[in-house]
Amino acid sequence: MMQGSFPSPGQRAVARCDALAVAPFSQAAEYLDRPYLSGAHRAALDQTAVWMQEAGMAVRIDPLGNLVGRYEGAQKGAKTLLMGSHIDTVHDGGPYDGALGVMIGIECADALYRAGRRAPFALEVIAFGDEEGSRFPAAMMCSRGMSEAVGQEALNMVDLAGTTLAEAMSAFGLNPEALANAVRAPNDILAFVEAHIEQGPVLETQGLPVCVVSGIAAQKRLRARFIGHAGHAGTAPMTLRRDAIAGAAAAILAVEDVCVHGSPDLRGTVGRVLPATAAYNVIAGEAEIGVDVRAATEAARDEAVRAIGARFETIASARGLGLDFTVIQDLPATRCDPVLMKVMGDAVAGQGLPLLETLSGAGHDAAVMAKLAPIVMLFIRCEGGISHNPLESVADDDVDVAVRVLGDFIERLALEDA
Ligand code: HGY
Ligand code: MN
Ligand code: MN
Repeated sequence: MMQGSFPSPGQRAVARCDALAVAPFSQAAEYLDRPYLSGAHRAALDQTAVWMQEAGMAVRIDPLGNLVGRYEGAQKGAKTLLMGSHIDTVHDGGPYDGALGVMIGIECADALYRAGRRAPFALEVIAFGDEEGSRFPAAMMCSRGMSEAVGQEALNMVDLAGTTLAEAMSAFGLNPEALANAVRAPNDILAFVEAHIEQGPVLETQGLPVCVVSGIAAQKRLRARFIGHAGHAGTAPMTLRRDAIAGAAAAILAVEDVCVHGSPDLRGTVGRVLPATAAYNVIAGEAEIGVDVRAATEAARDEAVRAIGARFETIASARGLGLDFTVIQDLPATRCDPVLMKVMGDAVAGQGLPLLETLSGAGHDAAVMAKLAPIVMLFIRCEGGISHNPLESVADDDVDVAVRVLGDFIERLALEDA
């Protein structure tokens, strides 16, 4: 943790993530839970805005609830370099997934500010309000809303408490009718750069603190509803049941079976199970599962989704169940910009580090921001590759390296831009 009175940028960025990992910046007292448009989200925005202002930035909240800190450039009218990551978390998540990228962006602005310097271009640090999709069914709401207008169907999305996105926005003080104002003009933007923990084992295995990201895997988020027949646990004979939870259980194992036997980059997960009842003595008439399928390419991902759908049909017909299998979200595979990757790679080499490029199996706002501007990401080693887990951990020294690399990246970009 922090030694002495002047923490390093890495120590401060990590400490700020730790500070945001508890109430009121989490809506749970015992673990970290910071959903989009929650009171915890509001508290985290207010605190992060103070840190942005201390780094010489002007701050604003956009129509989607994104916090945007802006550090003006030397050349009026020059494009803007966007940095940042998401400030929302998964339920019982780790303190660094997302938030660390925001705090590192603030450290980059702070370094310029304290040196009394300005890049030719403006620098904006964004804390995206929703990337995880942990409150509403679809993810990446806030980066999507910056790169394209969010449609009415998104505003009708409902969280588990039955609140629509539009209602949650109004309660947060946002105007659901003004979403189009969040869209950024592509020709104003130089690039989007996201620093993020790797959430995987590669850097730790290679003994490296950081690496350049070559691309982000394709992912699909689907909902499967199994419709059976509610019944009495004590009287309905086993052979006459249409048990929706039993069908969903078979489906969950089918997802695992398809993906375990697929290509090494294929991932299939059921992390969300919503039974119609939670009763010991009722045969469930309905059960819903959330399916997350990812692969390096859309083709591999979609082949797995097809195979999973076929297995679900077989399970449903064998058990006399209805099946509704719907795509909630389709995020294509995204390549990082090769020119920006070269600049980032040179900045990594500038720290005397070997160059490693890796594909991200995790989704990131950068994948969506690629619609708006060229993107590049920098991964930071995290202990055991653990993430989406309170045991998530990152070393201050590795974050110091990341801040130095990104500072150098900005300098190199400024020279290219000159
Ligand atoms: O799901 C993901 O990959 C990211 O954590 N939202
Ligand atoms: Mn995450
Ligand atoms: Mn993340």
